[in-house]
Amino acid sequence: MDQTAKKMSAAKAALEFIENGVVLGVGTGSTVNCFIEFLPSLSDKIDAVVSSSNESTRRLIAAGFKVVPFREVGDLDIYVDGADEATKHRQLIKGGGGALTREKILATASRKFVCMVDDSKLVGMLGRFPLPIEVLPMAQSYVARQVIKLRGTPVWRENFVTDNGNHILDVSNLSIANPPELETRLNQIPGVICNGIFAQRPADILLISGDDGVRRIGA
Ligand code: 5RP
Repeated sequence: MDQTAKKMSAAKAALEFIENGVVLGVGTGSTVNCFIEFLPSLSDKIDAVVSSSNESTRRLIAAGFKVVPFREVGDLDIYVDGADEATKHRQLIKGGGGALTREKILATASRKFVCMVDDSKLVGMLGRFPLPIEVLPMAQSYVARQVIKLRGTPVWRENFVTDNGNHILDVSNLSIANPPELETRLNQIPGVICNGIFAQRPADILLISGDDGVRRIGA
């Protein structure tokens, strides 16, 4: 099975978590795009949809949904998103698509966070995928210097501006032995808006799509 087929399977498996009357948060990325394609079949069950990016908003509207600003709803019943890396403890690296800040807000505000990955993204320890960090543009060089002190290798994501008007540093070579600790530490650098470690708020349910079907970790 190729990677696209695996993404489709994971997205289909996520549909079963949508219950009647939910306020649904929708993430960003190619796996989420598959999920959005399937979503119209469940539109009767969904009370309101909140989106984590301009791109997902555009796709949701094209699929026939009205997208509600997050500030107008309370906490989300369920948040569905992909990830760039995941561990069996359901800790994640996210932000390959640059939407990490809004994604982290919605994930944290959700009662249930369902994450869909294909099996190539499952790792023993986070950090093979360069860690995205969203930074205020004026602080970009300062943050990069602080990250180098932590033995990371930051690379500015060229010609990319986030939906929030900020820049992204993609950081390789970090040792992420303790994900919640590094997540907190990076957040304390002035100028960091958000980093792509999702460990303080891991996924509740991880759906891992492979050749033999979709495996589920979590409840
Ligand atoms: C966007 C993300 C995505 O969830 C992550 O990049 C995975 O994307 P894809 O489903 O395209 O592999 O964090 O900011």
